Amino acid sequence: MPATADATQDASRTFDTRTGKRVKDDQSSIPFALPDITEAEIEAVSDSVRSGWLTTGPNSAAFEKEFASFLGDGLEAVAVNSATAGLHLAVEALGLGPDDEVLVPTWTFTSTAEVVRYVGANPVLVDVEPGSLNIDFAAAERAITERTRAILPVHFAGLPVPRGDLSKFASSHGLEVVEDAAHAFPVISEGRLVGDSESAAVVFSFYATKTMTTGEGGMLVTRRPEIAERARTMRLHGISRDVFDRYTSTKPNWHYEVVAPGYKYNLPDPAAAIGRVQLRRSKDMTAARQRIAERYNTELAGLPLQLPAQPREPGGHAWHVYAMRLADDAPVSRDRFVERMAEMGVGTSVHFIPLHMHPYWRDTLQLKCADFPVASEVFNRVVSLPIFSAMTDRQIERVIRSVHKALASSPQEQRSTRRPDDPEVSTFSCDERNRG
Ligand SMILES: Cc1ncc(COP(=O)(O)O)c(C=O)c1O
Repeated sequence: MPATADATQDASRTFDTRTGKRVKDDQSSIPFALPDITEAEIEAVSDSVRSGWLTTGPNSAAFEKEFASFLGDGLEAVAVNSATAGLHLAVEALGLGPDDEVLVPTWTFTSTAEVVRYVGANPVLVDVEPGSLNIDFAAAERAITERTRAILPVHFAGLPVPRGDLSKFASSHGLEVVEDAAHAFPVISEGRLVGDSESAAVVFSFYATKTMTTGEGGMLVTRRPEIAERARTMRLHGISRDVFDRYTSTKPNWHYEVVAPGYKYNLPDPAAAIGRVQLRRSKDMTAARQRIAERYNTELAGLPLQLPAQPREPGGHAWHVYAMRLADDAPVSRDRFVERMAEMGVGTSVHFIPLHMHPYWRDTLQLKCADFPVASEVFNRVVSLPIFSAMTDRQIERVIRSVHKALASSPQEQRSTRRPDDPEVSTFSCDERNRG
């Protein structure tokens, strides 16, 4: 989905444009996603703006420290203006470039693969496991060549790729690991939070629909000082000292040195101020998402659906996305289900349109649906329900009632879920160019 457009539209519908206050009326449409912003975030932004420090400064520095210590010991955090930026800085810091191949699951947002392109390296798309929709290590094994240098796994929906399997796979092939944890904050994987790992870098997103937000933003976390240092330099034009440093250090503030052609990826302080409050509220916000997921699990059981893969341990799912699948005997197609939900005023989304079905990736990498049997098949059934921590009980109940109604068979629409090669299914079908 074009994530940016989705959230902007949804958010605008949930605020009264005259008063700027959030609309709490449960009779209005239920957006697919909504940031959970309280007076505490609003006050923190106001304080930050009043302080006069609008770019990266004391709030960003404090946010980095607090975020790193929230995750574990011995970690460094580098705040950036998106997860895409963080992923880019990670692959750049690893020195990946032309001739290098990086394994990326096809079941992801385009950022995960595009950053590999930014450094001139080659993403190699890999199919996913049918349950979790996380990277399938058997398929990844088949994709290994002598050029493979790294793996970029995604913790889809907030369910972690098992860390033991990941590190075993990476070490047996001598690969660097950059974890795309855009969906995975905060979540436990084999007893430790995602982010507290031996991977080269773990990158989180604070985009407006994520489990915690700064509007736009992200964080690169690493325990390798050389990666943190390179990322800090490259996030701000390749300058050896950052702006905050320049204006607070005792050295003359006009002096700086450009050591590389860097980027403009720094996180402004008002955004970091929101992030610091969201971080403090993150356990409660995750608990709220978990309660919603549990209600969906219980109250949607028995419908012609496959419910999402469940956590393997307590706290083992961030529930950024509740991605369920329509069963073969569902009375409506996924696309019709989405329409019916919209008619009842409930926003839904699709995570993801697999990368191999997008024209750019399909055509430049010459991909065929047959090479990704799991993702190609699941795509046609998958649909995400609203799940956000500010959801009211009445909204949750209305979503559940709407799913029941949308799946009640109607005589005109009695047919099972369409196959991925049905040309009417969507513009992202597996057609003659990529059916394979
Ligand atoms: C799996 C995944 N990775 C990366 C991103 C990019 O995040 P950001 O918008 O913070 O750049 C997204 C965004 O939705 C995502 O879903």
